[in-house]
Amino acid sequence: MRIKTFEEYQVAYKQSVDDPEGFWAEVAQQFVWRKPWKKVLSWDFTEANIKWFEGGVMNITENALDRHLADKGDQVALIWESNDPEDKAISITYRVLFDQVCRFANVLKKHGVQKGDRVCIYLPMVPELSVAVLACARIGAIHSVVFGGFSAKSIADRINDAECTMVITSDGAFRGNKVIPMKATVDEALVQCDTVKHVIVMTRTRTPVSMLKGRDLWWEDEVKLVDSVCAAEPMDAEDILFILYTSGSTGKPKGVVHTCGGYMIFAAYTFTNVFQYEPGEIHFCTADIGWITGHSYIVYGPLCCGATSVIFEGVPTYPDASRFWKIIEKHKVNILYTAPTAIRSLMSFGLDYVNGHDLSSLTKLGSVGEPINEEAWHWYKTNIGADDCPLVDTWWQTETGGIMISPLAGITPEKPTFASLPLPGIQPVLVDESGNEIEGNGVSGNLCIKFPWPGIIRTTYGDHERAKQTYFSAYPGMYFTGDGCLRDEDGYYRITGRVDDVLNVSGHRIGTAEVENAINMHLGVVESAVVGYPHDIKGQGIYAYVIAEKSVHDPEMFKKDIAATVSRIIGPIAKPDKVQFVTGLPKTRSGKIMRRILKKISEGDVNNLGDTSTLLDPAVVDDIKKGAL
Ligand code: WT7
Repeated sequence: MRIKTFEEYQVAYKQSVDDPEGFWAEVAQQFVWRKPWKKVLSWDFTEANIKWFEGGVMNITENALDRHLADKGDQVALIWESNDPEDKAISITYRVLFDQVCRFANVLKKHGVQKGDRVCIYLPMVPELSVAVLACARIGAIHSVVFGGFSAKSIADRINDAECTMVITSDGAFRGNKVIPMKATVDEALVQCDTVKHVIVMTRTRTPVSMLKGRDLWWEDEVKLVDSVCAAEPMDAEDILFILYTSGSTGKPKGVVHTCGGYMIFAAYTFTNVFQYEPGEIHFCTADIGWITGHSYIVYGPLCCGATSVIFEGVPTYPDASRFWKIIEKHKVNILYTAPTAIRSLMSFGLDYVNGHDLSSLTKLGSVGEPINEEAWHWYKTNIGADDCPLVDTWWQTETGGIMISPLAGITPEKPTFASLPLPGIQPVLVDESGNEIEGNGVSGNLCIKFPWPGIIRTTYGDHERAKQTYFSAYPGMYFTGDGCLRDEDGYYRITGRVDDVLNVSGHRIGTAEVENAINMHLGVVESAVVGYPHDIKGQGIYAYVIAEKSVHDPEMFKKDIAATVSRIIGPIAKPDKVQFVTGLPKTRSGKIMRRILKKISEGDVNNLGDTSTLLDPAVVDDIKKGAL
């Protein structure tokens, strides 16, 4: 499965384009199947119907756990590093993880969870989060992990959309020097959810909680009452494995659906190849399991490859900005996979925090989530990788399930800020505004993919039409990524950022419409418009233009109120960085806000606003320019 030279990459790539079914069937042979598939691939991008390995029967946990027991049972599967550096780290072997997963799977079954039922998981970064995810997969329940930073309302929306019957949470969470209530937030969410029958609560912070009789159960009690034998549920390759909600340019977040077989193969194949994973290596992905990066490169990818994966509960700057480097030294981490925003933030603290830590165990570095700027790339490569570790800039999305465009570590020649070349099986194309493919090199356009790969999104949960509209209608016959991209003279790809109304704030994906809806819920707000602006650390910051109900007496107070409202409705990650009060918004005669203009103003580029003649009232632009922050 693993490519070892650039020539092998070229051969594999060609084979994957000439004969995609043959290529992926060969990869799939490397996994454990109860029954072979009937058909490798059937697809129709017009209807958004894609099936890989249909008829094949398998269970991802047999691939992530059972099959390692014979020869790797005593190898560490997960290393858990607590928020508090004084706490002892916990190492969990494959055998122990297997036992814990089976036990917890039995707890789920005992409380009525069956194949196909949806389970919401709202937990901090503790080993139990991986256990809960895998326990769902074991019995064929569909997990929907909700990032621990989301608000009660965001949880409720996700639970209701998926009609979850169970929620798994903790009393609280430690994050840096904060203790965050989790169960109380779930309780608040559940006031609006009537599909949920049970809540399982694990103890983490000993924060007082209220436990409802008949509904709420303690994790620690429940696992004592079941045995540790739990046969894996036979799953069709196309049965749903999980739902993960992500933001789009319009409306509420959508539930991206991934299925068992294709996702498994793609997560494992990309893990092995991009990171050139060698048996015995320790892999530290700093993402939260609440995002796709954690699903694919903390849990499923590494475990399916029998790797050792680090789970870190805290934040990179607690107790200070040397925490990552201390973790690397302590656990002899080989592969570090993190986000540009973390690098830029740690870079800003200076090298004193890096120096003096033994980072010599590192063999490979990775970046994910947003474009990495040249300065951050070099800082990472030189100061963390000692100019001796390959650095892979990996481009992909929640919808793609795994890495799509990236160097293979140490194999593909690197170019700073370029995600470089597509992985085998990935056929990227650049298209112009009218949907024509732009051929040749030294060009840029909108990034589409013209052939399915095993990890592609199958649908948006409960609303197939939305998946069709969002991904397959802008450019008929192609999957549209929402990203702009350039292909240089060497055929290397550089992702330039979203071309739709989706923001990328510290690697978190946030829809402008969502933030506007939240701001507009504030009593004193008439209307708002949100755009992204360049931010040194976050990549993009959130700039909100707000029309207030009456004249604003205390703008600072009002801004805090708006931030509090957004935190309450979405979560703290969506709080605006800047709020400018305006008397009007630049609208066309048909009432559409011209964000292009607002974006330029937020970037400080006020003399280049382009054509404003189609505006209903061009004078508002001058007012906005005057008040720009
Ligand atoms: C969007 C997807 C899947 C990883 C976590 C984010 C941006 C992601 C890169 C990169 C430039 C990147 C894109 C993409 N993005 N990786 N290496 N270089 N941009 O997943 O939340 O689904 O966001 O993140 O804009 O569309 P996500």
